Amino acid sequence: MTDKQRYADELARVRDRSIGLTTAVLDEGELTRQHSPLMSPLVWDLAHVGNYEELWLVRQLAGAEPMRPEIDGLYDAFEHPRAERPSLPLLGPTEAQRYIELVRRKVFDALDTLPAPSDPTSISLYAMVVQHEHQHDETMLATHQLRRGAPALTDPDSPVPPRAGPLPAEVLVPAGPFVMGTSTDPWAYDNERPAHTRDLPAFWLDTTPVTVGAYRGFVESGGYDEATFWSDRGWAWRCRSGKRAPAFWVRDGNGWFRRRFGRLEPLPDDEPVQHVCWYEAEAYARWAGRRLPTEAEWEKAASWDPATETQRRYPWGDDEPDATRANLGQTRLRPAPAGSYPAGAAPCGALQLLGDVWEWTASEFTGHPGFCVFPYREYSEVFFGEGYKVLRGGSWATDPVACRATFRNWDHSIRRQIFAGFRTARDA
Ligand SMILES: [Fe+2]
Repeated sequence: MTDKQRYADELARVRDRSIGLTTAVLDEGELTRQHSPLMSPLVWDLAHVGNYEELWLVRQLAGAEPMRPEIDGLYDAFEHPRAERPSLPLLGPTEAQRYIELVRRKVFDALDTLPAPSDPTSISLYAMVVQHEHQHDETMLATHQLRRGAPALTDPDSPVPPRAGPLPAEVLVPAGPFVMGTSTDPWAYDNERPAHTRDLPAFWLDTTPVTVGAYRGFVESGGYDEATFWSDRGWAWRCRSGKRAPAFWVRDGNGWFRRRFGRLEPLPDDEPVQHVCWYEAEAYARWAGRRLPTEAEWEKAASWDPATETQRRYPWGDDEPDATRANLGQTRLRPAPAGSYPAGAAPCGALQLLGDVWEWTASEFTGHPGFCVFPYREYSEVFFGEGYKVLRGGSWATDPVACRATFRNWDHSIRRQIFAGFRTARDA
C-alpha cells in the first residue's frame, strides 16, 4: 500500500468515527448544547476538525483559497476558550457536516495530484490531520462521559485476551542510557523530536496501572482527609474542590458505584482507575510509599530493549497494535482488567503501558533538547514551561495511529474528565 493510500484510508476511517460520536447518535439539541463548561459543544469539534483539515491540507498543502474565511475565527481554539464556544454563531450540525464533507472532497482531489509526503524528519501533514481528528474524537468521548441523560453510546465490548498468570507487583528497569524521542517517525509530532540519549538510574515500576480496588483502599482509609499524603498545591485543590473520590464515583448506602456513559454500575475493582487528577495520583503514590514515574522513566520502560540496546515503537516491538496487544481504538468503552494483554508486555515485563488509561507522570511538559517547531507553535511550544503535566501511553479511547511509545500528551494538574490513571514507581 502506498503512503497516499494509507492516508486516504485513515482519513476515511477517522471520519466514520467522528460521525459515530456526533450526528449518528445525537439530535441537533444534544449536539449544539454545552454538556459541561470544560468541553465544547460537540458540533464545534465536528466543524473544527474540518476547518483544521482545510487549513493544513487544502490551503497549506494544495495552495487553495480559503473556503469560508468568515468561519475561521469561530473554530480557532486559541481565539475562543471552550467555555465561550456555545455562544458563538457556530454552524449547525447539518451545515457543519456538509462543510467538512466538502473539505474532504477537496483533500481527496488534491491527494490525486500532490506528491506523497516522503520526508520523515518532520510529521506528515496528512498524519497530523488524521491524528488531530482522532484526538478530538477522544475529547468528544470525554464530553459523552460528562453528558447527562439517556445513554447514547453502545459499548462494542470487544473481547479481552486472558490475563497473564500471577504477576509481580513491580518490575525492575535496569540503569543505563536509552534513546528517548524520535527523529524519523513520520507520525511523530514536533514535541516527540528529536531522538536523544538519556541516562537513568535503575527504578522499580508497577507492573500494571493502579486499579480501582487499590485506589478504593486509599479512599476508604481516609487518604483524602490526611494532609501528609498531599503536596501543598494538591491539598489546596482537595480543600477547594471538596472532592473525596475519583470523578463519576457515586456512594450509595454501603456500596460504591460509578457512572459510565449514562449507566450506573458497581465499581469494577480489577480495572485501572480512571478520572483522577494529577494531584490525586500524586497523593495515592505517597500514601503507597512510592512516587509517580518521570516521563523519561515511563518512556524507557515502554520502549527500550536493554538486551539489544534498541528502541521499540511499541512496548512489544515494532508491529502495529492489535487486539491481542493493547486496548486502543474505542473497541470497548472501558479499560481492560489490570494484567490483560500479556502479548503486549514491554521488555521490563510491564503490561498495559499503551492503551487502557493515560498515565500521569511526574514531569512537566517541555521541549526535548534540540526541539524545533513544526508546523506551528500552537500545537506544542506555547504549552512548554506553563506547568502542564505529561501523560503517556494513550487510553482505550485513543486510536492506534495516535499512540506510540514516544507520544506525549499534557494537561492541567486538576483535570479529571480525561481517561487518565497512573502507575507508581520507586528508586531501586
Ligand atoms: Fe484541535
